[in-house]
Parts: sequence; C-alpha cells; structure tokens
Amino acid sequence: LNYRINIMKRTASKSDPNGMVNILGKLEELFDSAIKKAFPDIKDFQVVVVSTTPNFGDYQFNGAMSLSKLLKTLGKSLNPREVAAAVQKCVPPNEVIETLDLAGPGFINIKLKASFVQEQLSLLVTRGIRPPCGVEKKRVMVDFSSPNIAKEMHVGHLRSTIIGDSICRLLEFLGHDVLRINHVGDWGTQFGMLLAHLEDRFPNFAEETPPIGDLQSFYKESKIRFDSDADFKKRAYACVVKLQSHDPVYIKGWQAICDVSRREFQKIYDRLDIKIKERGESFYQDLMKKTVMLLEEAGVLKEDEGRKVMFAPGIAVPLTIVKSDGGYTYDTSDMAAIRQRVHDEAADWVVYVVDLGQSGHFETIFACAEFAGWLDRKKTRVEHVGFGVVLGEDRKKFKSRSSETVRLVDLLDEGLRRAKEKLIEKERDKVLTPEELESAQQAVAYGCIKYSDLAHNRNGDYVFSFDKMLEDKGNTAVYLLYAYTRIRSIARTANVTDEQIKKAAADGIPLSHEKEMKLAKLLLRFPETIVRLTFDLCLHPLCEFLYEVSTTFTEFYDVCYCVEKDRTTGQIVHINMDRMALCEATANVMAQCFSLLGLKPIQKM
Ligand code: ARG
Repeated sequence: LNYRINIMKRTASKSDPNGMVNILGKLEELFDSAIKKAFPDIKDFQVVVVSTTPNFGDYQFNGAMSLSKLLKTLGKSLNPREVAAAVQKCVPPNEVIETLDLAGPGFINIKLKASFVQEQLSLLVTRGIRPPCGVEKKRVMVDFSSPNIAKEMHVGHLRSTIIGDSICRLLEFLGHDVLRINHVGDWGTQFGMLLAHLEDRFPNFAEETPPIGDLQSFYKESKIRFDSDADFKKRAYACVVKLQSHDPVYIKGWQAICDVSRREFQKIYDRLDIKIKERGESFYQDLMKKTVMLLEEAGVLKEDEGRKVMFAPGIAVPLTIVKSDGGYTYDTSDMAAIRQRVHDEAADWVVYVVDLGQSGHFETIFACAEFAGWLDRKKTRVEHVGFGVVLGEDRKKFKSRSSETVRLVDLLDEGLRRAKEKLIEKERDKVLTPEELESAQQAVAYGCIKYSDLAHNRNGDYVFSFDKMLEDKGNTAVYLLYAYTRIRSIARTANVTDEQIKKAAADGIPLSHEKEMKLAKLLLRFPETIVRLTFDLCLHPLCEFLYEVSTTFTEFYDVCYCVEKDRTTGQIVHINMDRMALCEATANVMAQCFSLLGLKPIQKM
C-alpha cells in the first residue's frame, strides 16, 4: 500500500505557519504543479524528489523517464530529456530554488537559494526546533510492548517496546493524537492452571492478597502440575470457565496475579522511560461476545469440528473465533479490538508493533475485519509494524548462559554495569561528580540498548551485542552522545549565552564557508526526514540522519574556527557568533532526534 499519496494529498491543504518547512515536500509540490501545467492529460502522477550530493545540486527530480513512458501510452512521443525541459519551464516562481539544471538523459538537478537556506537556518535557531508544517492531525492508536501476564517479558517484547515507543514519540511530535496501548495477554488459558495452583498454595487468596513473590517460579510450578497431573488439568479448565464467567472469587485471584506481573513490567517501563496505557485482552471481554454475535449475524462463521472459524477471501488459514468448548481465543480478542479501535475509538490509523512471526495473524485479522465490513482501508490506515528476532553474538537464538531466555531486568543491569566500565575506561570518573557519572551511566546503558535496536532496519533479525553497541566510533549511541555533549560544551566554555546566540542568528547567518553551507542544508533536512519516516514507520533512516549530522558537523568544525584562542595564554581572542549559531542549530537538531529515539542526552559526560 502506498500511504505516501494519501498523506501528501491530505496535508497539502493545512499549514502551521510557524512550523519548520519541509523543503523536499515543498519541492514536490512545485514539481507537481509544473507537471500538471506541462502535461494536463497526466493524472495521479506521484512526484518524487530525492536529496543528492552537492555535485548534483541539493535535490533531484528524476521522474522524466516514467513521465515519458506515460505520455507514450497517451500517444505523445517525447524523450525524457524533452519531458524534463518542459517540466523545468513550468516550475512556478518560488523563494526556494536557485537553479534547475538539466542533466544526463533527463534529470533535473535542483539547487537551493542561499538566501532561503540562511533564512530557514536563522529561524531554526531563533524559534527552536518545531514540528514540520503541513501535517494533518490524525487519531492514532499504537499497540506495542504487550507482554503476557505471568510470563516473562522477553527480548521480543523489548524490541516492540523500544520501536513502539519511538513511533509514538515521532507521531506525537508531528502533532497527532496518539493513544499508546499495552495489549497485555491477561485473559488466556494460562490463568486456569495459575488459579488452580493459587487455590492450593494460598487457599484464602480471596480474603488476603496472596504473597506471590516470584511469579516466574509460580508459573513454572503450575505448568509442571498441569502437564503431569490429569486431575489438576481438569480443575484448571474449570477455573478458566469460572474466571470467564466472572466468578468474583476467581476474579480476585486473577487480579492478584495480574498485579504482580504489572509491577514487574512497570519496573522495566520506568527504567526505559516508557509511557503506556494498559488495555489488555480482558478489556474486550464483553466486546468479544458482541463480536461473535455480529459475525454470526453476518453469516461469516463456519463450523469446523465444533469450532467456529472465519475465513478471509484469499487466505487459506482461518481465524478461530469460538473454540469447541465455547471459549474465545487470541483471534477473537483481536477481532473485538480492531472493531473497537476503528469503530468506537474512530481511529484514523492503527499500528500494531509485534514480531514478524505474527504477520499472518495480522494479515488475516485485517482481511477479516474488511470482509465483515468493519474496516475500510482507504479510510483507516491499519498496519502491522513487524520486526525480526533478536539473536546472540553466535547468531543463534538469544539466551543467557544459565537459562533458555534472558530476563530483561538482568539485561538492563548488565547494560548498566558495562556502561560504567566504559565510562571508567574513558576516565570520566575523574571529571564527573558521582551523580553526573550515574546519569551518564544510565544514558549510555539504556541509550545504547535502544539505539542499536532502532538503528537496524526493523525487518531484519538483530544481533544483540553489548561490545558493538558500546563502541565509541561509528553509528552508536556512545559516539553520538559524546559528540552532542562536545558541541554543547563549545558555547559553554566560550561563555556565550543562548540569548547572544539567538541575537546573532536573528541578525542573519551568512554561511559563507562551503562547510557551513553543507551543514546548514543538512540540518534543514530534518523535517523531511521525519515526515518520510511515517511512510513505512522504519526508524533507522532517522539514526542515519543523526549520524550524518554528527559527521558533517565534525567536517565543519575541523576547518571552521568557532572560538579562537591565544596559543600561548589560552585566552579567548575571538568568538565567531555565526558559527556558534550553527553549533547551536546542530545541537538542537541532534537533541530532537535523541528525543524521538527515546535517548536522554546529558550536558556533561
Ligand atoms: N501478547 C502478544 C504476544 O506476546 C502480543 C500482542 C500484540 N497485540 C495484539 N493486538 N495482538 O505475542
């Protein structure tokens, strides 16, 4: 599905006058009207402008080849170069473009006006980073993290948590109305054995909160009994029925078990600074009944060996809506949930951040919801944002030395320990106070875990390696966090205030050095970069952008003096305020990228 068309068309109308300019978006609008003018017969042509290296201007339009082919189908024979020339002539007058150059078989190289770049950069510093203008507000629901009660939250859930949180941060920054939903598994059949075991271990659980210390071993104990003891198994089934029929005693036991899990999950969320609203499978209990009724009425359920299943057109595997014992399933709760989200919540966009292993499940849920008439994908954007599995450094399933799975708390603790080692290795303990060292340790530990996940294309498997993520060279959190603190310290050590920098920026930044111009143009690509992230919700291009900002800054800083000092006395003799403004702009853009990625940069590190 191409969401791009949708977004561009809907956004073109509204504009926030104080937002940052999406330059690439603006160029696409200009080319869109140029093409309409040059070739009025062509309808629905998707204009694409790309950013390029300075050798080819700053941006490029390379749609002339496909336009030429399209024209041929309409009986007009023009070669791509002729097409490009015609488009070039029709680009409306504007304040953005300096030159348009025809190149090769029909490329149009676009160079930005220096005055436009200067003005936009000055606005960036004086107004600060703002959301791009022209984004139409949507109501978005993001279903992420979603661990299962009484089971350990595993690395797959960690990926969902990190990716989902960053997607929410991005959409919130763009001004959307975002609902962060934790679809915890709190209503499944695992509660049968847990409740039966609870009855035996803590018989008065209904009167007194049962002191289940370690839910993990509690789960294991009950699982062993469930698998080996037929009577226990029978009782477990009876318990699920009692729970699902809302027997108050069993509801109490269920709540107690959920509370223990909830507290454990919350510890992880607090450490990683994740905000999320719990709305688990149990939330849909009553809706599930209604869901089944509606599907029954619509005549889309089929009997299959006592089960009620639903097929979607073109998909071989059906959903199980009602089990042979009358119980509901994961499928039932997701059908209830999608209807609740699209219909009751009137969401414009529903995002499910769940591992790629569940692609088939979501494909079927979406198709069945459409088939039932609950979802129109032209109106509501629903998508499964999948991700690959986490592997160990041996490229096998990620596990710890002592057990099959890695406990997330242990993983975060190890991150903290390794981050501290790294800081001490860099002798940061000698310059930082204990408090500063501790914040640096947390920023590095949690930052590197999040960043190394987000920097990889989420569709691939991902090798978890503390050694790699803690490297201080290359596209890593450690490198970037350091780079950021260094940039911030330039103004601090020169004793220049924010007001002075803003004043300088308001007076105009000439950008006369080639490296200044290059850095400025890159920084101004921030709005288009984040708008593009929404097309497929892959976040790694943001990490690539952030890294490019950091290396481009180094290129600039190596040759452009910001603060000149007397070689012998070390005293400051001259401060180049225009360049200080460029430093400020760079730091602001980086800080905003960090914030979208859920990283916490620190002033001193
Ligand atoms: N609890 C599920 C799991 O751990 C993930 C739920 C994802 N969300 C959903 N609406 N199905 O696999």
